[in-house]
Amino acid sequence: MTKEKVLRLLSPGEFVSGREIGEVLGLSRAAVWKAVQSLKTAGYEIESVTNRGYRLVGKADVLHLPEWTVLPEVDSTNNYLKQLAEAGAPHGTVVVSDCQTAGRGRLGRSFASPKGVGVYLSVLLRPEVAPGELLHLTAVAAVAGAEALEAVCGAKPGIKWTNDLIFGQKKVAGILTEMSLEAESGRVHYAIVGIGINCNQGEFPAEIEQVATSIFLETGAKVDRSEIARQIGRGILAAYDTMWQEKASWMAKYAENCVTIGREISVVRGSEARRGRALGIDEDGGLIVLYEDGTRATVNSGEVSIRGMYGYV
Ligand code: BTN
Repeated sequence: MTKEKVLRLLSPGEFVSGREIGEVLGLSRAAVWKAVQSLKTAGYEIESVTNRGYRLVGKADVLHLPEWTVLPEVDSTNNYLKQLAEAGAPHGTVVVSDCQTAGRGRLGRSFASPKGVGVYLSVLLRPEVAPGELLHLTAVAAVAGAEALEAVCGAKPGIKWTNDLIFGQKKVAGILTEMSLEAESGRVHYAIVGIGINCNQGEFPAEIEQVATSIFLETGAKVDRSEIARQIGRGILAAYDTMWQEKASWMAKYAENCVTIGREISVVRGSEARRGRALGIDEDGGLIVLYEDGTRATVNSGEVSIRGMYGYV
């Protein structure tokens, strides 16, 4: 896209003239001017001085990911990507949005997705396997997400089984994996891994302030959301490529980072809640639990709350 090419030639220090940009990109000066206007509209701060040209003033907090689809607003990136998937979009398609009006979490919950402060990203995968082969996908994505966050912000979140990334006692990111199955074969048609990251929020609405945090609140530094999105999207895609060959090593990393292990937990299914202790992770990312009555079981679904965290006291 022209405006992306123009952006690459602008620097925060030096002025670049419209003529120079035009020559490099083979554009008229009017076309350069138009591209600069549309960058400004997208949120970039660009200084224009007659006879000197253009200069990038500040690094705008806009999502700049030329390799992927970036939306200013959407109901849910998972929903949007589902439509692309149904229309034949290839494996590796990534959608990112600046905000979601109906962001979704596990178990029918909503995921608060305010504008300009978070990253809401979905990745399309087309594995040719039976659904049972994908049980560990969310766990692999959680490890990849935690590693990507550490690479960008220097602090590594823990993982609360199964799909939350946390700092201390609070959630910084959540993952929602959804699948479509082929009716005839029962095999996976496609899978979508969606991740929402609280990046630069300075505060949260009262309803979630006890349980939610952001990278900014944890580290004291605002993060470049494009960099977070890039690292997480690429990290999930790269992790997918090795999730079967290196399954044991992925699950070992998951267990190492999983804060649920060793804790007193409550496993909630519908109206039933059973207390026990989380002992470990099985080879598919399931949570091995020793219940109070002495029975052991592996939990693959449902809600697990940890004593002392998110309100389970
Ligand atoms: C959870 O907290 O249970 C999971 C939250 C997942 C949120 C992400 S944001 C991008 C993608 N689109 C959605 O609607 N949900 C996921």
